Amino acid sequence: MKDEKFYKPSKDIIKSANVKNYEKYRQDAIIDLEGFWEDAAKELDWYKKWNTVLDDSKAPFFKWFKGSKTNIVLNAIDRHIKTKGKKVAIIYEDEKGRSRKITYSELNDEVCKFANVLETLGIKKGDRVVTYMPNIPEQAIAMLGCAKSGVIHSVVYAGFSHEALRKRINESGAKLIVFADGSYRKGKEINLQEIAEEALKKAPSVKKAIVVNNLEKKPKLNDKRELIWDELMEKASNKAETVKMDSTDPLFILYTSGTTGEPKGVVHDHGGYQVGISRTLKWVFDIKDNDIYWCTADPGWITGHSYIIYGPLILGTTTLMYEGAPIYPTPDIWWKIIDKYKVTVFYTAPTAVRLFMGLGDKHIKKHKLTSLRLLGSVGEPINPSAWKWYYEFIGKKKCPIMDTWWQTETGMFMITPVPTMDLKPGSAGKPFAGIQAFIVDENEPHEILRPEEKGLLVIDTPWPAMLTTLYNSPKRYIEKYWKDIPGYYLTGDYAMQDLDGYFWIEGRSDDVIKIAGHRIGSAEVENALVSHKDVAEAAVIGVADELRGEVILAYVLLKKGVNGSPKLKDELKQHVRNEFGPIAVIKDIEFKDKLPKTRSGKIMRRVLRAWSKGEDPGDLSTLQD
Ligand code: PRX
Repeated sequence: MKDEKFYKPSKDIIKSANVKNYEKYRQDAIIDLEGFWEDAAKELDWYKKWNTVLDDSKAPFFKWFKGSKTNIVLNAIDRHIKTKGKKVAIIYEDEKGRSRKITYSELNDEVCKFANVLETLGIKKGDRVVTYMPNIPEQAIAMLGCAKSGVIHSVVYAGFSHEALRKRINESGAKLIVFADGSYRKGKEINLQEIAEEALKKAPSVKKAIVVNNLEKKPKLNDKRELIWDELMEKASNKAETVKMDSTDPLFILYTSGTTGEPKGVVHDHGGYQVGISRTLKWVFDIKDNDIYWCTADPGWITGHSYIIYGPLILGTTTLMYEGAPIYPTPDIWWKIIDKYKVTVFYTAPTAVRLFMGLGDKHIKKHKLTSLRLLGSVGEPINPSAWKWYYEFIGKKKCPIMDTWWQTETGMFMITPVPTMDLKPGSAGKPFAGIQAFIVDENEPHEILRPEEKGLLVIDTPWPAMLTTLYNSPKRYIEKYWKDIPGYYLTGDYAMQDLDGYFWIEGRSDDVIKIAGHRIGSAEVENALVSHKDVAEAAVIGVADELRGEVILAYVLLKKGVNGSPKLKDELKQHVRNEFGPIAVIKDIEFKDKLPKTRSGKIMRRVLRAWSKGEDPGDLSTLQD
C-alpha cells in the first residue's frame, strides 16, 4: 500500500471545484465546529432561525439547530419554484425504456397532491407511513409528500420479503402503506402487491393501503383497505402548505440491520439532516447548476434517501432514477443511459464496478461517456483493482473517484475525498470537514492506535445529519452506539489510518454481513432459517466473494430424524429468499450436529469464521463443549 501512487486531480477539476481551499476548512472546522455547520445552514432557507447550532446538554441525544423552524421540503422544492420551476428535477427511465421527466414545478404539484391525499385519509403530523416501491418517481413523491405534511416516512426496500416488510410496518405502527403493484426486473414481472398483501394480513395498525400502478396492466384490489394512487391523486388539489417543523422533528425512520434479529429503526430529523447532506453533496460531488446526477442506489436504502432524493433536490440539481438491473436488457444499458442523458456525476457501488469489470471493456467502447466529470463509490470497500478499472474505463482517467464512507446512521458522507484531493485507490480518503474519526484498540482501555494499526473506527465529534435516536428505543440507541467506547460514536467497522492520514475501511467488526453493499444482519437470516420446519438451530457468517464482496455461509443443525440432503439445502435457500428476501445470497449450507456456543448459549461466530477459512479459532475456553 505504501507504494501506491497518488492519483492527482486535473487542473480543470481544481479550477472549477466548489471548494478550493478544502484543507483549510478541515483545519478550521476542528477549532470551530459550530461555525462550520452554521455557515452550511445559512445556505438553506428556514422559517425561523435557530437559537443554538448544537445543543449537547443531553448527549448523545444531540440537538442541531434547536429553536429553528424548517421543513426539508422548503429546501428541496418550495424555494426552487420561482427560480427553477421549469428545470427538470427528476429523470426516470426503466428497463423497458419507459421514461419521464418531471420539472420542479410538476414535482411540487404532485407532492402537494399527495400531501392532500394524506390529509383526506386522516394521516397527521407524526403518523408513520410505510412505502414499498421500486426506484420510481412515486417513491420520491410519497416521501416528499409525507415530509411536507410532517408525516414520518419509513421506506422498505422492495427486495424485502413479506415477513421483513410486516415486521417493519408493525415496528413503526404505520397507519398507511403505499406500495407499487410491481416492477419489471431482468425481463420478469415482480409482483410486489402480492408481497404487500401478504404482509398486510398481520398488520393491524394499517388503516389504508395505496396501490401505485407501475405495471402495464391494471391492479386488482384484494384487501378492503386498498385504494388506487391515480384515482386519489386525480381528485387532490395541487396546492398545499408545507408544515413548519422543529429542526429536531423526525423526518423518517429507516430500518437497518444490526447484531440482533430485530432491525434498528434509525431516525433522522428535518433540520440537521438537510444541512449535512446538502453540504457534503455540494462539496464532494461538486454539484453545479447544469449537472445531471445519477446515483444508482435504491431509495430503499439511506443512499437513496440522502443522495438520490433529498440531497440533489435541495441543491436544485437534476437527479436520475433508473428502475432496473445493471446489465439488462443489454450489458451496456448503463453506458447508454449516461450518453443519452449526458450524465455528469455517476455514483455507484463496488459490486457493480466488479460486475462490469468482469465483462471486459467491449461494451463500454461503444459509448462516449465524455459527459462524465466525477465518479463515486459507496457501500463496501472498493478493491484497488476495481478502483483503477473504474478510473480508467469509465472515467477515462479524467474523473476523480469519490469513495464515500458512511452509514444509514450517519445520514451523510463521513470519510471521503473531495475532488481537489489526491486519491489513493481503495482508500476512502479523510474525514469530511467537521468530522473527527479515530481508530481505537478493540481491547480495553480502547486506546487510540498509531497509524497503520487496525482497530475500531469511531467518530469523536457530533455531525448534523446524525441519527437522533432509534425509533421507540432510546436505550438501545445509547447501548449500540455510545456505550462500548465511552465518549465516541462506534461505527461497527474495522479500519486503519495510514501515515498520510488516509483511512482504509476493512469491513464490519460486528455480525453484519455486506452482500453487494446491502446490509444484512446474521441474526435475521438465522431467524429465517430457524423458521423452517426441519431446522433446529442455525448460524450464519459472511465469507468473501469476488463479485458481491461477501455472501452467506450457513451452518445448520437439523431437527432429530431429519437428514441433510442437497434437496433440503436448495429448499432452505429458497425458504430464506421467501422469508427475508433475495438479497440474502446463501453460497452454501453445511449441516452440523453441533454449533460452537458459549456456556450462556451464544453462538460464537468467531469460531465459525475461523473454521470457514481453515484458521486457528483462538481461545476456546469459553466454549460450552
Ligand atoms: O461497513 C461500512 C460499509 O457500509 C456500512 C454501512 O452500511 P449502510 O448503513 O447500509 O449504508 C451503506 C451506504 C452508506 C458501513 O458501516 N461502507 C459504506 N460505505 C463504504 C463502506 N465500506 C467501505 N468503503 C465505503 N466507501
